[in-house]
Amino acid sequence: MKPRLFHFDDERRGMVVHRHDTPQPWINYLSNGRLHAFVSQAGGGMLWWRSPLRFRLTRYRAYNLPIDSPGFYLYIRHPDGTVWSPTFRPVETVLDEWSACHQPGRTVFVAEKVGVRVKLTFFIPPGTDALVWDVRLENSAGKAQELDLFAYAEFSQFEWEQELRGGYYTRHMMKTWMCREANALVYLDHDAKPYFALKPTVYFLSSDEIHSYSGDRDDFIGNYRHENAPQSVLAGRCNDSALATGHPCGALHNKVVVPAGGHYRLHYCLGVVTGCNGSIEDAETGVVKATANLRSAGWPDGSLEVLEAWWSDHFSAYQCAVPDPVAMRQINTWNPVNTVTAARFSRGINTWAPGTRGVGFRDTAQDMVAIAYRSPGWAIEGMRYLLSQQFEEGHTVHTCFPEDFRPSSRSDRSDNHLWLAPLLWAILAETRDFGILDETIPYLAPDCSGKGTEATVWEHMCAAVRFTENHLGRHGLPLTLRSDWNDLIGKFNKRGEGETVFAGFQHVLALKRLAEIARHTGRTEDLRWFEECRARQEAALLSHAWDGSWWRRGYDDDGNPVGSVNSKGGNLFLNPQSWAILAGVGTREQQFAGMDAVAEQLDIGYGLKLLHPPFGGWDSDAETLIGYGPGCGENGAVFCHANTWAIIAEATLGNGTRAWKYHNQLIPRNVIERLGAETYRAEPNAWVSNIVGPGNPRMGWGNVEHVTGTAAWMDIAATQYLLGVRAELDGLWVDPCLPTKWNAINVRRKYLGCKVDIEILNPEGVEKGVVEASAGGSAVNVTEGKAVFAPELFEGVGELRIMVRMGRL
Ligand code: NOJ
Repeated sequence: MKPRLFHFDDERRGMVVHRHDTPQPWINYLSNGRLHAFVSQAGGGMLWWRSPLRFRLTRYRAYNLPIDSPGFYLYIRHPDGTVWSPTFRPVETVLDEWSACHQPGRTVFVAEKVGVRVKLTFFIPPGTDALVWDVRLENSAGKAQELDLFAYAEFSQFEWEQELRGGYYTRHMMKTWMCREANALVYLDHDAKPYFALKPTVYFLSSDEIHSYSGDRDDFIGNYRHENAPQSVLAGRCNDSALATGHPCGALHNKVVVPAGGHYRLHYCLGVVTGCNGSIEDAETGVVKATANLRSAGWPDGSLEVLEAWWSDHFSAYQCAVPDPVAMRQINTWNPVNTVTAARFSRGINTWAPGTRGVGFRDTAQDMVAIAYRSPGWAIEGMRYLLSQQFEEGHTVHTCFPEDFRPSSRSDRSDNHLWLAPLLWAILAETRDFGILDETIPYLAPDCSGKGTEATVWEHMCAAVRFTENHLGRHGLPLTLRSDWNDLIGKFNKRGEGETVFAGFQHVLALKRLAEIARHTGRTEDLRWFEECRARQEAALLSHAWDGSWWRRGYDDDGNPVGSVNSKGGNLFLNPQSWAILAGVGTREQQFAGMDAVAEQLDIGYGLKLLHPPFGGWDSDAETLIGYGPGCGENGAVFCHANTWAIIAEATLGNGTRAWKYHNQLIPRNVIERLGAETYRAEPNAWVSNIVGPGNPRMGWGNVEHVTGTAAWMDIAATQYLLGVRAELDGLWVDPCLPTKWNAINVRRKYLGCKVDIEILNPEGVEKGVVEASAGGSAVNVTEGKAVFAPELFEGVGELRIMVRMGRL
């Protein structure tokens, strides 16, 4: 029988993998916000500095066989020629013990072979741009063990697209050598580009004496050989080879003796310095300076502590205690880890995604909402950047490349700009710093070449409203343009006359958020305008979006409804049903009816399909969503990102049972329990964008791991709508929606600098409705079943205990 595949170690906030052969790579991201890596359970991985397009430091061959390679490899060679790797890959020797543990910001391998036990920890410290390989060896054999250690990584040519296109020329510009003064292998690229000054120089050092080295991949591995048996490792030493053209690598060889029953510890740093301008002399000076303190024995411990403190601070913004350990783990640990990943890498990079996509405007606008309540400063920076990508007419770019030295790309969509108001609102709710509305940020020039005219943050918001108001179709609904949130929906809009109900609901929500801010800051003229626009849009939705039993998805070029009972395929779409509730449009009966249709037709037990039935095939023009096979992606997969809005919708309606069902059934660990890891394939601790639905033989396969909007919205859904603790403009709301079996839960959350301890009691086992509340022992008014705690209660207060009691209203 195969050993179990994985388990969670909640004490360490870890996911421990027990077999290297997971159904596909299960990765962890290591990053300090500048230098980034991912590493898999088998030691596969990639390192890049700022941009995986421009400054890709090591190679990773996505899609090629063998999967998940190369990576960050350590070879351990015994005097009798036995060779093994604590990551299992690349040597693949059968080990006496092996596990890999992904934790926030670090991955730890523990492996044992012939009495030698290794603990290998990879991490990137907040203050140092280096991937650290911290190696601890333990010898349980009765005699001292002499070992040869080889640490190895294959270098990329930095400019990844250029490498694919012209690497056979640019390889003449790559150079590696041993810098004796720094005692480090250095890798430099002479290929001049406008951003040459920023190009990093790579160094690879060991805390121990380097016995031999190689900077030349072909020399280290040997001709027609594999990474599992490099000729240098077999020979027990490298050839001390530098590289002046060819395939660069970093290989460092140390000789160590681990005493009988004793320990040995050493580390490697694979890092970067900048500002060398292609000069060998400057590179050497830079590396000597940057690495001066990195070799001391205790250095990794101190760096790990700083890393740990960063994550503790991030987690401490919101933690809960609830009776469901699986949900609790997801909410307390893996959601906040995943929201950082998505915020850092947008939709760009994982083992399949090559990192060339840049930053999706709508994607980052959503990701930042989940960052706003944990790290408002980061969310404000994100918003500022996004506003610099908005045109004066109010709409925005679709994709931008803040780190890639590449112009933003224009592709007019109906929704991108509509995500701005909810982001601003979330930031204001958290910080209450309304001064930001008057900050000026230039628009983007119409040709995306640089800065356009200046405008305040508030003017940016008004411009977004104006754009939608100027782009309404024949039913008064927003024109779809190239698409709305759903990338493929523009296929109903070939002549530019299609309309989108989803963006209509979004427009209403944006107008409501802006109206609230306008009311709060005395902007009466704008408030009136927003109210008029909202009333018109709501009227259009009520007249043209309701299909009789559910909300339609929109209209095609010819004015035929999309997502209607008579449509050919895609009769029912998920998003309009949930967004009617998020936007607060329609009667309660309509809202319930839409969500009932979802429960009946879209819930398949491990999630809600995006639409039903899927469009049929690839070859018919009438099948408008052609391209994606039935059950795949936007054509009827379980679209996890969109499931999050259904959870919020059900929580808003007060359907605790359904809201928690939709939440829990999608938690990756629960999907794996239900379908099996071999079917789901993706990680048990990270969200995916979508899961292949019925109609496809790969039903149940989780796609687009980690870098997905599911991460931000699942976090928001759980913390702010299910547990119901969220900042709004008038204070901290406690508005939970719980399973009836939960009689008491606790939330600890930071708000306006105060540590708030929130006791939520539910003695009658209701799903929704607060009947009593107090702060610091004094009663607080409850209206319409919600407790709103005024900001003044928290300002300047270090800690506060609040209590709410739920009950029948
Ligand atoms: C993935 C894209 O990154 C995102 O922008 C889009 O909203 C969803 N797919 C749905 O189409």
